[in-house]
Amino acid sequence: MKITRVYILVILLLAFVPQPALNVTAQLDYCVGQAARTVASIPATLPNLPRNILNGKTTWNYIGYKDWTSGFWPGTLWYLYEYTKDARWKAKADTFTRELTPLAYQKAIDHDLGFQMYCSFGNGLRLTHNPAYKKILLAAADTLATLFNPKVGTILSWPRPVPNMEWPQHNTIMDNMINLELLFWASKNGGGKRLYDMAVSHATTTMNNHFRPDHTAYHVVVYDRETGKKIKGVTHQGYADNSMWARGQSWAIYGYTMTYRETRDPKFLDFAQKVSDVYLKQLPDDLIPYWDFSAPDIPNAPKDASAAAITASALLELSTLVPDKAKAAKYRTKAEQMLDALSSAAYQSRTFLLHSTGHKPNNSEVDASINYADYYYIEALLRLKKLKAGKNILATL
Ligand code: GLY
Repeated sequence: MKITRVYILVILLLAFVPQPALNVTAQLDYCVGQAARTVASIPATLPNLPRNILNGKTTWNYIGYKDWTSGFWPGTLWYLYEYTKDARWKAKADTFTRELTPLAYQKAIDHDLGFQMYCSFGNGLRLTHNPAYKKILLAAADTLATLFNPKVGTILSWPRPVPNMEWPQHNTIMDNMINLELLFWASKNGGGKRLYDMAVSHATTTMNNHFRPDHTAYHVVVYDRETGKKIKGVTHQGYADNSMWARGQSWAIYGYTMTYRETRDPKFLDFAQKVSDVYLKQLPDDLIPYWDFSAPDIPNAPKDASAAAITASALLELSTLVPDKAKAAKYRTKAEQMLDALSSAAYQSRTFLLHSTGHKPNNSEVDASINYADYYYIEALLRLKKLKAGKNILATL
C-alpha cells in the first residue's frame, strides 16, 4: 500500500515537472534540410560565406574570410558531415574551410582567429586527420600569439582604435576566452608550452579583472599596455557598462568550462560554475535570455538565441566535469530544456534558428538569424547525442 502511494506520488510529480521532449535526431535532420537549402542558394562569386538573415528578410547576407564569423559556416558543415557521414558534406566543408587559409599567415586582424580557424580547420582535423589542416592550425596559433601582451597577461582583442577603448591601450573582450582553445590544442600538437602558458595567463588575468563580485562579466576590460594595470571595465555590445550582456556571459560559461577541461585546475571548474549559476538564476522562464539581462524594455526586448545555444553546448560539457551529481544533473537538464526551447516552432527558421541579437547598441543584426547561433545549436545537439550514446562530447559521433 505504502509503495503504491509512493509510486502514485512519483507519477504525479513527473506529470507536473516539465520534461524535455527533445527529439535530437529529428532536430539534426532538420539542420541537414535547412543547410541543404542554404547550400543551394550560395552564390558562385565571393563573398560566399553565409552570415545572417535579417529580421523580415528571407535571403542570406554573405561575408568573406576576414569576417569574425567566417569559421561558423565551415564548422557547421563539418558537424553535418559528422552526423550524416555523407562525403558530399565533407567536400563542402573542405572547400569552405580552405577559403580561410590566408588568416593563418597574414598579420592578425584581431583575436577572432580562434573562432575562425578552430571551428573550421579544428573540426576538419578532428574528423579527417588531414595533416594539411594541422599545419595551418599551428600557423594560426602562432599568429594569434602575436597579440599576447606579457605585461598585461592577456591577448589584445582589437589591435586598432575602437570607440571608448583608449587606443593604444590594451583591450581584452570576454569573447576572447573562446580563442584559447586553439592555443591549448596547438600546445599539445607541436606548438610549444608557451602557447599553453599564454592561454592560462589569459584565463587567469581575465578571471581576476573581468568580473563583478556577483560573477557577471564586463564585456571589455581596458588595461594600461605598459604597466598591465586595469584602467576600466566597460561594454561594447551590451546595454550598460555594469549590465550582464547575455552573449558575453555565455562566452564566459563556455570559455571557463573549456579552460578547466584543458588545464584540470579546480579554480577554473569552480569559476565555470559561478558564471553559469548567476546566468541561470536570472533567465526568463523559457531559458532564452533577452540580449542583455538589464535591457530596459524587458519583456519586449529582443532575445538572443545565440547566447542560449552557446550556453546549452557549454552546460552539456560542464555536466560531465562537475563531480557533484545533483549539480551535474541540473546543468544537463537546463541544457536540454534550452535546446528544447530553441527547437520549438517559435525559434526554427530559414536557417536553423531565429531571434539572435548581434550588436544591439549599433542596431545591427537585431532579432536575426546568425551563423554562430546555428553553429552552437548543432554542436549542442551533437554533444547531447554523444552523451546519450555514452560517449565523450569531444569524441566523433
Ligand atoms: N565576438 C563578438 C560577438 O559575440 O558578438
